[in-house]
Amino acid sequence: MRPTCILLFMCVTFLMWIPGCTARYEANWGSLDARPLPRWFDEAKFGIFVHWGVFSVPGFGQFSEWFWQRWHSEKQPELVEFMKKNYPPGFKYTDFAPEFRAEFFDPEIWADIFKASGARYVVFTSKHHEGFTNWPSAVSWNWNSMDVGPHRDLVGDLAAAVRKRSLHLGLYHSMYEWYNPLYLLDKASGFQSQKFVASKTLPELVDLVTTYKPDLIWSDGDWEAPDTYWNSTQFLAWLYNDSPVKDVVVTNDRWGKGCYCKHGGYYNCADRYTPGKLPDHKWEKCQSLDTRSWGYRRDMKLSEVMNLPSIVKDLVYVVAMGGNYLLNIGPMADGMIAPVFEERLRDLGAWLGINGEAIYATKPWRVQMENSTVWYTAKNNTVHAIILHWPSKQILQLTAPRMTGATNVTLMDYPDVLLKWEPLTPTAGLRIFMPAMPKSLGNAWCLKLEGVV
Ligand SMILES: *[C@@H]1O[C@H](CO)[C@@H](O)[C@H](O)[C@H]1NC(C)=O
Ligand SMILES: *[C@@H]1O[C@H](CO)[C@@H](O)[C@H](O)[C@H]1NC(C)=O
Ligand SMILES: *[C@@H]1O[C@H](CO)[C@@H](O)[C@H](O)[C@H]1NC(C)=O
Ligand SMILES: *[C@@H]1O[C@H](CO)[C@@H](O)[C@H](O)[C@H]1NC(C)=O
Repeated sequence: MRPTCILLFMCVTFLMWIPGCTARYEANWGSLDARPLPRWFDEAKFGIFVHWGVFSVPGFGQFSEWFWQRWHSEKQPELVEFMKKNYPPGFKYTDFAPEFRAEFFDPEIWADIFKASGARYVVFTSKHHEGFTNWPSAVSWNWNSMDVGPHRDLVGDLAAAVRKRSLHLGLYHSMYEWYNPLYLLDKASGFQSQKFVASKTLPELVDLVTTYKPDLIWSDGDWEAPDTYWNSTQFLAWLYNDSPVKDVVVTNDRWGKGCYCKHGGYYNCADRYTPGKLPDHKWEKCQSLDTRSWGYRRDMKLSEVMNLPSIVKDLVYVVAMGGNYLLNIGPMADGMIAPVFEERLRDLGAWLGINGEAIYATKPWRVQMENSTVWYTAKNNTVHAIILHWPSKQILQLTAPRMTGATNVTLMDYPDVLLKWEPLTPTAGLRIFMPAMPKSLGNAWCLKLEGVV
């Protein structure tokens, strides 16, 4: 056979397994859900989530990114009072947009901080539920960052800085827009018409993909309407078959009412998803550093910001359970990242600098946890035991690992020092004689166990 014939034969026979001749995906969940998740995502383990928009201007109250809806529709007393006290009568939410000036926004500085945190990807709000696009969308009227406010392509500028540092670029995108007249029209029809989807959602999604070539699309704001209204399966089939990012792009699971935890790429399920046992599908936990808000809040207090040990603990739990950790910050309207956020991220990066081997590109092990203080991850033939509690009298007992003929134990803080250990029972467990406690800002240490099963 001529090479082309052989290739064709192999394509037909092994369809999915031969790179370069993969099957085309069809616009139904059965086909789309069967797409293997591009490997970079599972290996990355840790990303930074960034919520930035017009909501960063009032920057006030719990879930500040929902300000417009909470004030205008829900009329929450706290927000009504805030507006009465601080703004003239008749001031509208849209009047905040010119105040979104981003005058100190330096994407290089942001990307430096993200890189230093040890993150491998960044997910940026291209558009939140308020509908303001952080890029010059051609179908946004003047409700975008080029025509109003920053007068900049925020998505494009950040994308370039993030890419320069070999971080993967993810774009958050809200399908619905609270007050878009076309959306409200479709909604009034019981989502029988698709005017908003045809003239806004889909053109903007395609524009984002073709212009910025994101490695990840973090879909949200889908829950009021079924995926058939959003034409999610048609969009994903295009994304996976024909888009410029078809081979690398990763998606989440928010593609219509009832979709999450069921369809799409990896699963986010609900915000701050915290499964109790090992899920059988790749997942991601998103978590905000400011425990009360995704968007920046000027009324944020130090006690409401996660401290480093609680971040590390969360990250370790998520990775041991096979997930990715997406840690959120909300920058200020002027483009500054609050120093407390920067400090947390840089400290986390320092912890990962020592212990990253137990995080990146690992797999869940046979056992995920013991005693609530030890979490396990595995890579090739190495098992990592991450301890969240330094043992008293320097003696650590691990019951789960089974030794083999040549078991080596090291602490990642001192990679060249083999630690003494003895069997706990003749068949399983180790009693490890620990060195003096190395300083760890994250209050977590990693042991590398070689030659255990
Ligand atoms: C959604 O997909 C259906 C089926 O392919 C198509 O008929 C319809 O025009 C699409 N709607 C939009 C808004 O693209
Ligand atoms: C460990 O496994 C990864 C993938 O699972 C592989 O790429 C890598 O080469 C392996 N490393 C060693 C030292 O075997
Ligand atoms: C785990 O708990 C068992 C039983 O309570 C104990 O023997 C062991 O020392 C504990 N291990 C750690 C690492 O705390
Ligand atoms: C344990 O360490 C010794 C000495 O460095 C080395 O020869 C041996 O290969 C190591 N065993 C494993 C399982 O890594």
